[in-house]
Amino acid sequence: MSRLSVQLPGLLLKNPIMPASGCFGFGEEFADKYDLSILGALVDKSTTLEPRVGNPSPRYFHSGERILNSVGLKNPGVEAVLAEKLPYLAQFDVPIIQSVAGSTVEDYEAAVAALSKAENVKAIELNISCPNVKQGGLQFGTDPEIAADLTRRCKAVTDLPLYVKLTPNVTDIVAVAKAVEAAGADALVLINTITGQTFDLETRKPVLGGVTGGLSGASVKFVALRMVRQVASAVEIPVIGVGGIETVDDVLEMMIAGATAVQIGSANYANPMVCKEVIEALPVRMDELNMISIEDLIAEMKAEIRG
Ligand code: FUM
Repeated sequence: MSRLSVQLPGLLLKNPIMPASGCFGFGEEFADKYDLSILGALVDKSTTLEPRVGNPSPRYFHSGERILNSVGLKNPGVEAVLAEKLPYLAQFDVPIIQSVAGSTVEDYEAAVAALSKAENVKAIELNISCPNVKQGGLQFGTDPEIAADLTRRCKAVTDLPLYVKLTPNVTDIVAVAKAVEAAGADALVLINTITGQTFDLETRKPVLGGVTGGLSGASVKFVALRMVRQVASAVEIPVIGVGGIETVDDVLEMMIAGATAVQIGSANYANPMVCKEVIEALPVRMDELNMISIEDLIAEMKAEIRG
């Protein structure tokens, strides 16, 4: 173990940094900027059994650091991901966490089973939290029993670790987290975006083609920190923190909240180098803060949070 490495179920990461699903595509647009092998892991775009064209345009609304997206799970589908995207990513020495979404339980099961066979896929991230689709998405992530049933069914069709990505658009995220943990999830990822909306002053209509969208960017960090701490206090399995992370201090703060690893999402749009910069800054900032290793920090916080 190096100073930066972290252990997740089934995965030893060189460092705790990975790009979040949906903000890094399948890596192609970033690979000419830096060597993707430096990443702790890479979470690719949520993939569904069949290709999806996504929601009508516009799919993004930017307001300063805030982004509202209504992409609608646009992706090329399992077959193309297996034939093109994952083989492309195999050139990098980085574990792939394959994000999977679906409209029905059967869709999820089939996609998880198929994608689990790819050699470089080392874990599955079950996306039960996309706010931008009429069928599936949040429908699976807001009710603890439904979330648990889907988790159980998907766990049964894969030998890989199953990480479940939770939505903040619930009254009690801990109830969903505990239900999913009891159903066999190996780790939890939180938070996905917060449902929002914006209107055009002239047309008086919603701006986004999908009408509503998911809010991300620096302002959601405080919601994510609160939820990561709540969930980390209530479950035994590791929590991967995501939401508004832009800097090395954000990373360390998320780990103090109780995360074992972190995902960087919309910051990749404004600064495609952000993951690399944060990885490089990590040991420097750890020295300043007298932190010996990331695993030490995780253990220290676990002891404090769980007692
Ligand atoms: O619209 C989207 O594709 C968003 C996905 C997500 O937030 O999980």
